[in-house]
Amino acid sequence: LTISSCWSEIFSNNHPKNLSQAIIVGVKKCGTRALLKFLSIHPAIAVASTELHFFDSYTNFQHGLQWYRAQIPINRSSQHIIIEKTPSYFINKSTPLRIARLLPDAQLIIIIRDPITRAISDYVQLRNRHRFYPSFDDWISSSNFTQRTPVKIGCYAQYLRRWLKYFPRNQMHFVDGENLIHRPWEELEHVQTFLNLPVRIHREDFYFNPNKYGFPCLRQTNGCLGLNKGRRHPVIANQTRNKLNDFYLTCNAELKRLAQIDFSWI
Ligand code: A3P
Repeated sequence: LTISSCWSEIFSNNHPKNLSQAIIVGVKKCGTRALLKFLSIHPAIAVASTELHFFDSYTNFQHGLQWYRAQIPINRSSQHIIIEKTPSYFINKSTPLRIARLLPDAQLIIIIRDPITRAISDYVQLRNRHRFYPSFDDWISSSNFTQRTPVKIGCYAQYLRRWLKYFPRNQMHFVDGENLIHRPWEELEHVQTFLNLPVRIHREDFYFNPNKYGFPCLRQTNGCLGLNKGRRHPVIANQTRNKLNDFYLTCNAELKRLAQIDFSWI
């Protein structure tokens, strides 16, 4: 299947018309897995359990929309919104245009958190994969620290500008990843409203697990995230924090302006 025949699927849309599509497009390490897991308990939502990497991979994209849809299990009698999450979509250059062409009505969900915490989380993940890694403070002390991907990604406005070329602001919803940890039901209520769904996920669906560093879990069985989510973060030096704060100052101001949001950490 070529890219052009893939485009042509827009006109022979094979999925039932009553199914709409929402995509958690990012951001990596901001709570994308928790958000998807929590949304999955809504009776009208069907989720793709794995990251599909459809729009950011040329090979996958060539399989076409039908392949993409087939990856997401649907119970046609009750579910009417399908959701997938692939956090790398947010920073991938080709993704916004591809989604706009194939799924112009898609609802985009973007979860963001304090970029300093996000950078630490990304660093901890990298350090776990590579045995000999400098400390976070040493890592940031280098002169080219702003070029490091885990630092760059936290300048959300830079990527958001690209999305806004293809999608109107009202097709996007921003989730506060910090609040998702403290009061998940509030963030979930905003998402359900954005998706035009009745609110079916409530405060009673959650508890805070001391064995999971106090992170929220669902009361249902298997309600906590896996061991690779909610890791211990290193304490960082004030100097490191100040340096990152300075770097993110203009990014956050631009984010506030572009997204018209005012989360406590911005
Ligand atoms: P850490 O593991 O560094 O703490 P993502 O799923 O996008 O990769 O994001 C991972 C982050 O989600 C975790 O980073 C954690 O801080 C955050 N998170 C939010 N809610 C969580 C929850 N209920 N359980 C575990 N981690 C959660």
